[in-house]
Formats: sequence, C-alpha cells, structure tokens
Amino acid sequence: MKTLENRVIAVTGGAGGIARGIAQAVLEAGGRVGLIDLDLAKADQAAVAQDAGDRVAAFAADVTEPAGLEVAFAALVKRMGRLDGLVNNAGIVRLGPADETSPAGLDLELAINVKGVLLASQIAARHFSGKGAIVNIASNAGKVGYRNMAGYNASKAAVISLTRSLSMEWVDKGINVNAVCPGGVATDMLKNVADFLGPRLGQDSGELLKTMVPQQLGRHIQPVEVGRVVAFLLSDAAEIIRGQSINVDGGDTPY
Ligand SMILES: NC(=O)c1ccc[n+]([C@@H]2O[C@H](COP(=O)([O-])OP(=O)(O)OC[C@H]3O[C@@H](n4cnc5c(N)ncnc54)[C@H](O)[C@@H]3O)[C@@H](O)[C@H]2O)c1
Repeated sequence: MKTLENRVIAVTGGAGGIARGIAQAVLEAGGRVGLIDLDLAKADQAAVAQDAGDRVAAFAADVTEPAGLEVAFAALVKRMGRLDGLVNNAGIVRLGPADETSPAGLDLELAINVKGVLLASQIAARHFSGKGAIVNIASNAGKVGYRNMAGYNASKAAVISLTRSLSMEWVDKGINVNAVCPGGVATDMLKNVADFLGPRLGQDSGELLKTMVPQQLGRHIQPVEVGRVVAFLLSDAAEIIRGQSINVDGGDTPY
C-alpha cells in the first residue's frame, strides 16, 4: 500500500544503519526521502544504494548546529518540493562506566541525542507543507537502561519525554509525534557495543554480538523492520497513535 505516496520525509543520521532501513521502507510506501547526515559522502552512498533516482537525496548537517540545520532543511525543501515528515534518527552512544563519564562526553551525547531532536523538529515544523508527522528513534535503553551507557540511557529517556511534550503542544499545528524504541538492531552501533563489552567480559566480540539478540525473537532485528514501523507511524493510519514510544525490540521490553 502506497501510504506515503509523494510525501517527502527527512531522516537525520541518514547515512546510518537504521536510516537505510527507514529510507527503504518509506520508498516502498511511495514516499521520497531526504537523508541528512554529518557525513555527506556516506549519506550520498546511502542514497545511491537505494537505487531510487531522484526520490532520494542527501544533505549535510550537524543536528547540534541550528544554522547548518536550517540551511539543510531549506535545501531539502527546495530540491524535493515539500516536506511532510521527519525522522529524528541521528544518535551516538558513548560507552563506559558511569563514574568515568566525562562532562564533555555527556554534553556531546545529550547535544546530539536530545538537543538535535528538538532543533530538527522545530525547523521541520516550520517547513511542513500541510499536516506533519515526526517519529523519534529513541531506544529501549530509555526505558530499561543498560550498564556502561548511563548518558545514553538518560538521553533516550529524554527523547521519550520530548515525544510526549511535542505531541501535546503541536497537535494544534496538525503535527503527530511518536517514537520507536529499538533494541538489538544489526548496525555498526550494536557492533561497537559488542566490541566494547567483549574484552571486558573476557569474550570474543563477534561471539558476544551473536548473543545480543532479542530473547523472544532469537535473532537480530534488521533495519528495514524498524523502518516499516516508522513508515506506518508517518502515515495517516497512525493518526490515532499520539505521543507514544513504541517498543520495536522483539519483545524484550514489556512496557
Ligand atoms: N542499533 C541499535 O540496536 C539501536 C537500538 C536502539 C536505538 N538505536 C538508535 O537508532 C538511531 C540510529 O542508530 P544506528 O544503529 O543506525 O547507528 P549508526 O551509527 O549506524 O548511525 C548513526 C548516524 O548518525 C549520524 N550522526 C552522528 N552524529 C550526528 C550529528 N551530530 N548530526 C548528524 N548526523 C549525525 C552518523 O554519521 C551516522 O550516520 C540512533 O539514534 C540510535 O541511538 C539503535
């Protein structure tokens, strides 16, 4: 079903693993995608990999820098003609014990994972062509929390809270705001977590990565599986779902 026919969706962190699955799912639903990333070369590659011609384009911006983000969104709207949705997907995880978390490291993690979500949402909201939809990529880490990523856990809890706040405040603008909470998705980010934890647990990182799967599912989640839920939340059919943070972690998180 072409539930996003001709709609233009901006995806931040657009060169990353989950973003590629989101782009694929939006394209399947008939939409068009603007990939915004710090790394323009990688975002260009991600756009080309979709093999969808001018239905996908890449733009450079750091989500923590409002001026650059404004330029990127203006360029996206000029090139693609309109803007209907935003996926706040850019994010980093910094690994280490809580008592070693540095102020600068925490600032960076909160700037990208939280401030970046608010800034991109504010700018996108001004550009939406009609009704708009925003989907934030939070994490089950924002609900359950994991060891060695205290800052990340806090940042994703903040994204869940921001999702509720924006949903309440922006209903009058015709904007629907939801989030998804993935876990165990096969991307570089998950591999980096295994590479960090492996030596500390005395385990081979590759073997550890194989075990980092949702318990009930027994396998890693693929980016496009997250993407298809995101594409649904961007569609009109999701109008009755508002301010929610929906787990897409194979059943690991029961609330
Ligand atoms: N992989 C998982 O299992 C998992 C689980 C839960 C949540 N998430 C969340 O999903 C999102 C995507 O993660 P992923 O696994 O695809 O990671 P990834 O590392 O593959 O992609 C992240 C992308 O964000 C970009 N980025 C980083 N800082 C940026 C900035 N300041 N401005 C613009 N772009 C920036 C990077 O260049 C990269 O392309 C993140 O928000 C992450 O926290 C991932």
